[in-house]
Amino acid sequence: MEALIEFIQIDSSATEALVAISTETFTETFAPTNSAGSMAQYVANNLTATKLSKELDCRDSAFYLVKVNSEVAGYLKLNFNEAQSDVKDANAVEIERIYLKRAFQGQKLGLFLINKAIEIAKLEGKRYVWLGVWEHNHKAISFYQKIGFVQFDSHEFKLGDEIQLDLMMKLELKEA
Ligand SMILES: CC(C)(COP(=O)(O)OP(=O)(O)OC[C@H]1O[C@@H](n2cnc3c(N)ncnc32)[C@H](O)[C@@H]1OP(=O)(O)O)[C@@H](O)C(=O)NCCC(=O)NCCS
Repeated sequence: MEALIEFIQIDSSATEALVAISTETFTETFAPTNSAGSMAQYVANNLTATKLSKELDCRDSAFYLVKVNSEVAGYLKLNFNEAQSDVKDANAVEIERIYLKRAFQGQKLGLFLINKAIEIAKLEGKRYVWLGVWEHNHKAISFYQKIGFVQFDSHEFKLGDEIQLDLMMKLELKEA
């Protein structure tokens, strides 16, 4: 039987679900390559219910869950206008977070989420989508390159007390 895939925009009533998926996927992705202290600090400062419900209430941000057969498999966070963490170009959309649980990776769900982001950006009349990716997250960088993203800059990202370098990559949107 084919899997049922749902793409659902959420608001602050889903804060608990967002805390759970954010913490699980952030930890799975970065714990193997970062210090336990920095990881704990980041999770405690950034992935709390208070912080995430505030982000969910921001009118220039949008959060979506992807569910597979009713199980939360991952999520997507988009930023528009001043909510963008850098650039802040009204013609752009930032894909701030795109995360899948490990068990759901490599099944084209990442591509599904990027395509949703592109679709939303086009509907909003934007010219490009962009994102920041840790310079050592080779898996994600190859994934973005394969889709056609190209690096255009870099910026700093704070993980606990550590300053890390994020590559900024963009994808120009073509007219439909
Ligand atoms: C990065 C991520 C979103 C990619 O999603 P995914 O579902 O695993 O990737 P997909 O199955 O959609 O892959 C789409 C295409 O990219 C390719 N691809 C995926 N991972 C790749 C890799 N490591 N190297 C090269 N190509 C890759 C796939 O082969 C596929 O190409 P194809 O259509 O020609 O077969 C997902 O792996 C993830 O959540 N990783 C952990 C969190 C993370 O790092 N997020 C990004 C933070 S910036």
